[in-house]
Amino acid sequence: MTTAGTRTSPEQATVEDQLVDAVVASFDGAPDPRLKQVMQSLVRHLHAFIRDVRLTEAEWNTAIEFLTTAGHITDDKRQEFVLLSDVLGASMQTIAVNNQAYQGATEATVFGPFFVADAPEIPLGGDISGGAAGQPCWVEGTVTDTDGNPVPRARIEVWECDEDGFYDVQYPDERMAGRAHLHTDADGRYRFWGLTPVPYPIPDDGPVGMMLNAVGRSPLRAAHLHFMVTAEGLRTLVTHIFVDDDPQLAIGDSVFGVKDSLITPFVQQSSGTPTPDGRDLGGSSWASARFDIVLAPVDV
Ligand code: BEZ
Ligand code: FE
Repeated sequence: MTTAGTRTSPEQATVEDQLVDAVVASFDGAPDPRLKQVMQSLVRHLHAFIRDVRLTEAEWNTAIEFLTTAGHITDDKRQEFVLLSDVLGASMQTIAVNNQAYQGATEATVFGPFFVADAPEIPLGGDISGGAAGQPCWVEGTVTDTDGNPVPRARIEVWECDEDGFYDVQYPDERMAGRAHLHTDADGRYRFWGLTPVPYPIPDDGPVGMMLNAVGRSPLRAAHLHFMVTAEGLRTLVTHIFVDDDPQLAIGDSVFGVKDSLITPFVQQSSGTPTPDGRDLGGSSWASARFDIVLAPVDV
């Protein structure tokens, strides 16, 4: 085998093969066949990686230190392992495997670490910003199934960062802002006020940020607004919309979350332009976006 410029002798290859076989066989008796499949495949790929790069013991130690630091920085608000999965594209690959394209269903993208389960409910046309700073943005659309039938009472969770690129869970206090949930009306329509999304860096003051820096990668995410949509009998959709004129789209998204179908026009409206619901924005400019959501059936 020739790897990383090193040629291994047949005797050495046999030693390495025998170790792989022994470790794989150690899972043969696992009572759960799926667990057995996952562990044996993991071992095969992990050993193939170690052999491919001819991993040094110093590099192995660095990897252990990296994972240890990731564990130490992780708590109920900071999830370094999700970040690691995201920047390695593992989150998006898992989403791709589990959300195969189905007719015209809206595409899924990365969940991220900033969802909070108990965000307040707002009425249709309500404001999710909770006082977070940013340009007001009117968002409206419909939720339908893939046959075009409206989905009434679909639950829509929305969350986003403020104009400085911070989610509320990153604030020093316990304030909740930039997130809410609402329900579609009897015709499957929804509307709310949010903030025009801006690009922001994923948390990069931990080991994942150090890794990105070491390899010359940016932590920036393209500007987006998160959605999670649930409705009886339909596949739950976790997705974002991306801002069509965001320069970061051309530069790249640090977690590989962008899909062309999710890039959405955010139309700038100058100050004084009447708002859709007559709201007085006190002279502020605003933006508007339309996002029609199509949910796939469950189990496709
Ligand atoms: C987010 O969009 O909120 C996010 C996604 C992946 C990593 C960090 C943040
Ligand atoms: Fe985000």
